[in-house]
Order: sequence, then structure tokens, then C-alpha cells
Amino acid sequence: MTRPVTAGLSMSLSEECLELLACPRCDAALLAQPDGLDCKACQVRFPVLDGLPWLFAEPAYALGEWRARLHLELQSLTQRAARLERELADPALLPDTRDRLRWLHDACRDQRGRLEFLLAPLLDGRDAAARETYLALRTRLPSDQGLNTYAANLHRDWAWGLTENRQSCEIVASQLPADAKRLLVLGAGAGRLACDLHRAQGAELTVALDFNPLLASVGQRLSRGGNLELWEFPLAPRGPRDVAVLNRLQGLDAGPGLQFLLGDVLRAPLAAGRFDAVITPWLIDILDVELRELAPRVNRLLRAGGAWVNFGSLAFAHAQEAMNYSLPECAELIATSGFGDWQAREDRIAYLHSPASRHARDELTVCWRASKTAEAPALPRHSALPEWLVTGREPVPLKQDFALQAANTRIRAYVLGLIDGRRSIRDMAKLLERERLMRADEAAAVIRRFLIQMLDDSRRRDLP
Ligand SMILES: C[S@@+](CC[C@H](N)C(=O)[O-])C[C@H]1O[C@@H](n2cnc3c(N)ncnc32)[C@H](O)[C@@H]1O
Repeated sequence: MTRPVTAGLSMSLSEECLELLACPRCDAALLAQPDGLDCKACQVRFPVLDGLPWLFAEPAYALGEWRARLHLELQSLTQRAARLERELADPALLPDTRDRLRWLHDACRDQRGRLEFLLAPLLDGRDAAARETYLALRTRLPSDQGLNTYAANLHRDWAWGLTENRQSCEIVASQLPADAKRLLVLGAGAGRLACDLHRAQGAELTVALDFNPLLASVGQRLSRGGNLELWEFPLAPRGPRDVAVLNRLQGLDAGPGLQFLLGDVLRAPLAAGRFDAVITPWLIDILDVELRELAPRVNRLLRAGGAWVNFGSLAFAHAQEAMNYSLPECAELIATSGFGDWQAREDRIAYLHSPASRHARDELTVCWRASKTAEAPALPRHSALPEWLVTGREPVPLKQDFALQAANTRIRAYVLGLIDGRRSIRDMAKLLERERLMRADEAAAVIRRFLIQMLDDSRRRDLP
């Protein structure tokens, strides 16, 4: 039976779950406080927002980062609605076009309100920076992990993916040992698989870990039987009104023992050796790190004899080709990280077949299971970003590449500053020559290329 830890803590974290948590900075146990979880050793408080523990190594940095991404998403919706409003002013629009644009416009505005409501605890009262500032400072992360990156998965999980969800659960469950009662799902997303497995296994405790607060919030609400409505914006809308579809996300009560956590799977805020099974659905090939680094980290989380069940694709896309492993290489590689008794199955499944979209995938998935047969060699703690970036206290190093990028930016800013609605490309080229930046004939070609890029960008749908 799961018992809540403290009456004051704004979440229903059970004692059993609290025992499994560990500080992502030093691995010490965490103490429940009325408004968060404390690591006494590091003197850090990990906040709990709307019942979701934020267990990132630098919680303040992670909060700021995701808050900025949320502001950016809200502003993008507002600006898209404003653009649509301008388009709607055109009297020459076909009646059906007008109807489609109006529908999309209303959906964007409505979605904004829904996200604000859903993620209200993440928004603070202060004014957000301008969207342009966020974009200029690359808040729309270079790593393509925005708030909305896996929105389609969310709708699949809780709106229209009944068949896909059932099939995924059956495949993964077929590889799970029947006596696995403590499960950990890494990169759980909106959590449907975690919820289904928790029920199918009759698990005592299932931890669903992800770093995306939109997905985790939705997962947490819906797996407690709640309902929500959110707009889906399909990639290739099927009909005119499929440009935006208001889906009813239908919750399912997972019963006690399913806990969502926010944190980085590469620095999982969890004690070593406590899980009967670790499940990695559609995760290993989208991480920045290679499998050689992930495998020992999964090993560390499992008890002796525990199972690693990996499910999904092998669409690795590392720049270094050697890291883009085939299935037999995966088996060989994880054997060096304390895993044995490998077995795998392959299934062709429908993937993200939204009824409102013409775009859909079929995937030949792999689902392997491997048992922990030995402790993997210990790895140093993962650090995705250098300290000076995370804490913001140390000086920013003047790396050679940074100096180069700064010079580029100055030149681009100079050329952009020449656009005043009067100067031609030739005028600008002469100015570049006068500044001794380039010969005028060469400069004209370069400026033209630069402006073509800008024009292309401004025609792209969702651009700054
Ligand atoms: C391809 S999606 C799969 C989501 C879910 N397992 C599913 O099948 O729908 C990958 C998930 O991993 C999460 N993720 C990626 N890198 C992560 C990291 N370093 N730490 C935590 N979650 C991560 C993403 O937010 C996303 O939810």
C-alpha cells in the first residue's frame, strides 16, 4: 500500500518512491519538505510544481530554461494568430480558405490559453522577454527538444492511438519478466506506455522520467483519470478543418504507485540498484550521447538480475558514424556493460497514424531484453553543459570559435543595418568596399546570397 509522505508536500509522493529518489548532483537521499525536496549535502531545494518534482542537477537553471521555452511557445501562437488575422483581411480569399484560416486562427488563440492554464505553475508573474530575444539567444534550442517536439506522441497517447498504444504495450510487456514490479521508464514522454505497463504488470511502483514539463504534466494528470482538451496541429492536414483539431485527451486511472518525475535520464535522480526493469521506449537513438554511455547508466539503476527492455527504432544520427550501431552491434556493446541473456524481437507497427493527418509512419521496431549480469564499470557523472553555462557565475571563455562567430555576427549586423528601404545591393556593396571588408563586385554576389536566405526565411511558416 502506498502512503503519502507528508501532508504538507504539494504532491502525493509515496514513501516507497521517496526512498528511490537520489540527488542528481551527489546521489544523496532527498528529504521531503512542504514545498519541495531537499538535498542536505548540496544544500539545494528541488521544487515541486503542481505535484511534479523538478529533479534536475541545476533546478533553477532548468526552470528558467523551460519557462523561456514556454513563453516562446505562447508568443509563437500569438504571432501566428496575428499573421492569420492579417491574411484574413484579404478580400480576395476563397470562402473555404477564409474558413480554414479563421479556424486555425481561433485554434492558435485557444491553445495559448490552454497551455497557460496547464503550465501555470511554470509561468511566473514577471514579464517575459520579447520573442525575438528568445530566438536570438537560441531559446528555440539547437538541440531540437522544444516544448512541442513530441506533441504528436501526446495526442497518440491519450486521444486517437488506441491500437498503437495497445500494440506497444503488448510488445514491451512480452519482454518484461512477470515478477518485475518496480519499473522505471526513461524518456516516458506523455506517459501512456508507463501507465499501461504499470497496470498490465500489476506493478507496485512505476517511475516515469522525462525532461519535458508539458509531456510530464499531461501524463500525470491523465494517468490519474483526469481529462483535458488540447489542439493538435497535424503535419499534413487531411481536410480543411484538420489544420487544427481539438482532441479530448481521455485519462485512465493507473491506480497507486505511478509517479512522474522531471529530470535528465543521463543524470537520473534515482538511487542505484533498485529497479526490476528499466524501459527505454523510443529513446536511445535520439539522445546526444551514444549507447556506450547510456548502457552503464541503465545498468546502474537496475538491481542484480533486473531487465533492460529497449523498444523503438535504431535511427541513430550521430555525426560520428561509428556510433550509429546496428542491432548486432547493440547486443555486443551492451554485453560490455554488464548485460547478458540478450533476446530481441522485431515488429512492424503503425506509428503516429493521426486520423487528421496524411502523414504517418510504419516502423520496424526492435524490442530487446537484456539482464543485468554484472555491475557495469562506473562512469563519471554526465555533464551536458559546462559549469560556466549552467551556473552563470564563471566567466564565459573566449573560445576561438566564439570569436569567429562574434565576427560573423558583427558583419551580418553591419549588412542588416544597411537595409533602410532605399539602398540597392550595389549601394551596399560599395559601402562594404569602402569599409575594406570586400571588393564591390564580390560583395554584391555575397549580399545577394545573404538576402536570398533572408527572403526564404521570411517566407517560411513558423519563423521568427
Ligand atoms: C521520441 S520521444 C519518445 C517518448 C515516449 N517514450 C513515446 O514513446 O512516445 C523521446 C522522449 O525522450 C525525452 N528525452 C529526450 N532526452 C531526454 C533526456 N536527456 N532526459 C529526459 N528525457 C529526455 C523527450 O522529452 C521525449 O519525451
